[in-house]
Amino acid sequence: MKTVTCTAPVNIAVIKYWGKRDTELILPTNSSLSVTLSQDILHSKTTISAAKEYDHDRLWLNGIEEDITKNKRMHNCFRETRAIRQAMEAKAEAEGKPIEPLSTYPVHVCSENNFPTAAGLASSASGLAALVYTLSQLFELTISTSEVSRIARQGSGSACRSLFGGFVAWEMGEKEDGSDSYAVQIAPETHWPDLQALICVVSDAKKGTSSTAGMQSTIKTSLLMNERINNIVPARMEGMKKAVLDKDFQSFAELTMRDSNQFHAVCLDTYPPIFYLNDTSRAIIQLIHEYNATSPDGKLKAAYTYDAGPNAVIYAPKENMAEIIQLIGHYFPSNKEPAEFFANPYNAISG
Ligand code: DP6
Repeated sequence: MKTVTCTAPVNIAVIKYWGKRDTELILPTNSSLSVTLSQDILHSKTTISAAKEYDHDRLWLNGIEEDITKNKRMHNCFRETRAIRQAMEAKAEAEGKPIEPLSTYPVHVCSENNFPTAAGLASSASGLAALVYTLSQLFELTISTSEVSRIARQGSGSACRSLFGGFVAWEMGEKEDGSDSYAVQIAPETHWPDLQALICVVSDAKKGTSSTAGMQSTIKTSLLMNERINNIVPARMEGMKKAVLDKDFQSFAELTMRDSNQFHAVCLDTYPPIFYLNDTSRAIIQLIHEYNATSPDGKLKAAYTYDAGPNAVIYAPKENMAEIIQLIGHYFPSNKEPAEFFANPYNAISG
């Protein structure tokens, strides 16, 4: 028997992935860029055991057993990693130095998040990244991290970006087989220590429309989507990469807010429309714009972004964070413990 445990962090996109050109292989209609958050605060942890004595593959998610055969995306990740291991075993055999036939053993997978899955905080990204990374370690695959991300992409698109720390681009690629659609690191977690993220849990209710269903509905029905994919995102990706490399918070903040707003605009342009933001989300947007307007030199002090749910992620330079936490606490008093607000004092540290 062989057992391996790994953790993977959450990533929050600043240029959003929304739309697939191939739903089986999970190939996106545009490239995207994200910031990986500190693992100390939010992560998924996966343990996998492979043993010839096991009857069949089994999976436990947050302590509850799920039918692994019903999870096609996970099945694809197993198939890909096992195929690479199988080729390694065949090569080793041919060279007269056989290795353990791990690719033939059933596995037991146990995966959990250290944060509530229902909170809509990109749990599929860290979960699938942890699964595929653990498989790659279990099978001792000698492949690059981008190659591991290419496999994780087939579990959940955004998962491919959680394989790296720091600032990460998922390059959409052009090929039909998806071999050029994977994540690359733009800058490591040490690059911009002054940038921090604050997660405001507006609601921990499960979202009404899943990302997977919502994005395909947008592709089918939104007339604005073509403009976004073809004429807006490519230039934004270049602008965002430059902003990150230059540690230019002004460009980073404006692009982040504009891209979040446009993503929610195409959701609204979907027919029937998809609403992910609620009144509190919109009030936080307004608060951040008013806060930015108080800046004496006209410089932006904070930026918000929202994924497929009402929870806000606020990016800001370290010096502004205490003020922002105070502002949010003042205007949106929580009836829960302050732990509802996850400040990230370490910036983007990955594992
Ligand atoms: C709004 O990666 O969850 O968070 O590929 O169908 O699993 P699937 O979708 P998923 O979509 C994430 C969408 C997003 C934007 C982003 O993270 O880039």
